[in-house]
Amino acid sequence: MANKFYITTPLYYVNAAPHIGHSYTTIAADCLARYMRGILGQDNVWLLTGTDEHGQKIQKAADEAKLNPPEFCDKMVGQFKGLWQKLNISYDDFIRTTEDRHVRTVQRVLEILYKKGDIYEDTYDGLYCTPCETFWLESQAINQLCPDCKRPLEKISETNFFFRLSKYHDWLAKYIGDHPDFIKPPSRYEEISRFLELNKLNDLCISRPKERLSWGIPLPFSPGHVTYVWFDALINYISAVGNFDAQGNYKSRWWPADLHLIGKDILRQHAVYWPIMLYALNIELPKTVFAHGWWMVGESKMSKSRGNVISPLEMVDKYGIDVYRYFLLRDVPFGLDGNFSEEAIIKRFNADLANDLGNLVYRTLTMIEKYFSSNIPEKALPADAAARSIEAKIKALDAAIAANPGLAGPGFNFAGPLEDIWELINMANKYVEETKPWNLAKENKLKELEAFCRLLVEVIRAVALKIQPFMPETADSILQQLGQDKIHKGKPLFPRIDVS
Ligand code: MSP
Repeated sequence: MANKFYITTPLYYVNAAPHIGHSYTTIAADCLARYMRGILGQDNVWLLTGTDEHGQKIQKAADEAKLNPPEFCDKMVGQFKGLWQKLNISYDDFIRTTEDRHVRTVQRVLEILYKKGDIYEDTYDGLYCTPCETFWLESQAINQLCPDCKRPLEKISETNFFFRLSKYHDWLAKYIGDHPDFIKPPSRYEEISRFLELNKLNDLCISRPKERLSWGIPLPFSPGHVTYVWFDALINYISAVGNFDAQGNYKSRWWPADLHLIGKDILRQHAVYWPIMLYALNIELPKTVFAHGWWMVGESKMSKSRGNVISPLEMVDKYGIDVYRYFLLRDVPFGLDGNFSEEAIIKRFNADLANDLGNLVYRTLTMIEKYFSSNIPEKALPADAAARSIEAKIKALDAAIAANPGLAGPGFNFAGPLEDIWELINMANKYVEETKPWNLAKENKLKELEAFCRLLVEVIRAVALKIQPFMPETADSILQQLGQDKIHKGKPLFPRIDVS
């Protein structure tokens, strides 16, 4: 399909309620999808999100909740969907790895790769981290602790099925070398290139014996095994949007994905395992995998296992949906780590939202009520240089926003366009302070006052249109206010938070 844009979020584990980190990726994906649809006017945008429901982690959480896994998953999925609705996430599809369409596709993939000889049976002797569901070599583990989560490893010996990653090492290294846009940002591209340079890929164990774990997709060629959760989960990106035909050719209207948006914690799976799986299946590769940074609390990544999570719902109830979306997208350059704190939200709230945007909208509507009996004045040619430079800035914003956070260039940049929009807001606020409209009114300079107020209306309309992907409710509320027959200034959009 020409001119389509297929964007995905990770499928989140349902072992615990979503936290700020999960909401970050989803909000970023939503903002991009809204930007494509709304600002670039692209009709064919498909945003996929969903939940990862198999494996040890989920089984354990279900046991602890004294529910069977399917009941437990249903309950948790409700929390994810509820949060996405609250945050105005405009997803087109939500896939659960327990759905038939997914299970069917995973089993088909397994059959195709098994027949092809890319999946084989072998005995594994080594170390295993149960919480991470990862195998480790003796040489990789210091003091028999998991190199990732630092918990004790178990010694195991069992028969399993393996996917021949090693066979595709050189192909992948060359592919990545030839495709500088495959992994973004550049720091992550370097990370994977270097990893492939310094290490030889080991084959990947893609099964778990049923005696150890039963909550998974059964291997079609070995009923005593279920599929390793990562091998299962990655396939969602194709199972949600297409099917294999009888000959094993994959057909889809949306594939290849234009963008897999992920956090840097799951880069290896997306930039090493996944492209090899697709290549082995003779399926086109996604265009770009973008791995953003982490929200940290102090020195540590926010995560369930570290026990430092903050609930997005709590933040939204306290500060508002759009304030939360704005903060996450504005405060940290996309790709880098950021420190989460309520002080930082309040700072952004008071400065950017109350003082700048909220103030501009409120003072503009107030003047229209006061000086023009609530009717927006006709467009008139503004007289002075300041007004002309504001008009020029509105025009320049159109071009700038259309190119940014575009897919060309070094990466996705949410803070950049926001800064650009705020430049216009600040110019307009300065214009009000310097023009002193109350003096124009006193001196009965009506023509000037009309042109002045009308220009401010143009500014807030332009701002509303541009912030739509980032702050959809705020944008709608400004546009709605401007669309009324008579202006009613209503309440300020962002009343200052008093911190004293
Ligand atoms: N289920 C796997 C992904 C399978 S994708 C086919 C998984 N799930 S997860 O629930 O642990 O979510 C991981 C993702 O959540 C990260 O890649 C990132 O997108 C987001 N984040 C989780 N914690 C985060 C932070 N502290 N900061 C930013 N994003 C984080 O891994």
